[in-house]
Amino acid sequence: MEVLITRKLPEIAEKILQQKGFKVLVHKKDSPIERSELLKKSKYADAVIPLLTDSIDKEFIDNLNKCKIIANYAVGYNNIDVKYANSKNIIVTNTPEILTDATADLTMALILSCTRRIVESVKFLREGKYLGWKPMLLMGMQLKSKTLGIIGAGRIGQETAKRASGFGLKIIYFDKIKRPEIEKSLGAKKVSLNRLLKVSDIISIHTPLNEATFHLLNKDNLKSVKRGVVIVNTARGEIIDEIPLIQLLKSGHIFSAGLDVYENEPKINKKLLRLPNVVLLPHIGSATIETRSKMAELCAKNVVNVLSGKKPLTEVTV
Ligand code: DGY
Repeated sequence: MEVLITRKLPEIAEKILQQKGFKVLVHKKDSPIERSELLKKSKYADAVIPLLTDSIDKEFIDNLNKCKIIANYAVGYNNIDVKYANSKNIIVTNTPEILTDATADLTMALILSCTRRIVESVKFLREGKYLGWKPMLLMGMQLKSKTLGIIGAGRIGQETAKRASGFGLKIIYFDKIKRPEIEKSLGAKKVSLNRLLKVSDIISIHTPLNEATFHLLNKDNLKSVKRGVVIVNTARGEIIDEIPLIQLLKSGHIFSAGLDVYENEPKINKKLLRLPNVVLLPHIGSATIETRSKMAELCAKNVVNVLSGKKPLTEVTV
């Protein structure tokens, strides 16, 4: 049986699959596979391990002949038409839990970088502008006693809340469901989105991207954020409408934004690139050696299970 991996992943994936006697086809270039090549190579594959940069849409799914599983190398699966795949008896899996800590850590890194103006300060020093200690130089925001508003208090949102609470931040959250775990252990309070936007000093996004969360933060509701707020997004770029975000960053109403994801990835809005009060990262939320290896391992194990007639470990259900 044949498994297509659409980009070079940590070795463990290939190893597991080869040990089980599967033929593994890997797109070895470190750039997204061309659409035509993707369609050609997946046509007779029994399993496909795609990346979040591959669009697994109706055309792709209709082109498959034998595929039993699409094992996404990501926890987010907005790149896949899961319903359609399921309607063709193809199982879809993702990589939950194993990237929770890495992403929550990076969220904290962005919160600290934004509130303490780390990137601006490094640039200032490298440009030779540091001429001695000054009482008013590059002043930022203290975390203790401020309010962190978590949008989407699932696994990553909750881990972020735990870390933030260690810095003395008060936690509020917006979610479809109540999260008793963090209410009990951290005193977190569930609030409406409008309330969260109005009272948070820092807002961090951890909700998946779907029809309901596309432009969840938009020109109408972004106006209501507190002056001086910090906004961090390590989820998906399309959840924030970047145009009003940029305007509010420019005017100084929003103090700073820490973004790991963008609306039109990998294209970054030029206006965003020119702003001094942003910390922009190239979608590295899960990029630790440990996490990326575990993601590869989980994808391979899901494929092995399904191709040997067993249940997948982490099936996506919609
Ligand atoms: C995901 O898994 O969805 C991240 O965005 C990349 O690891």
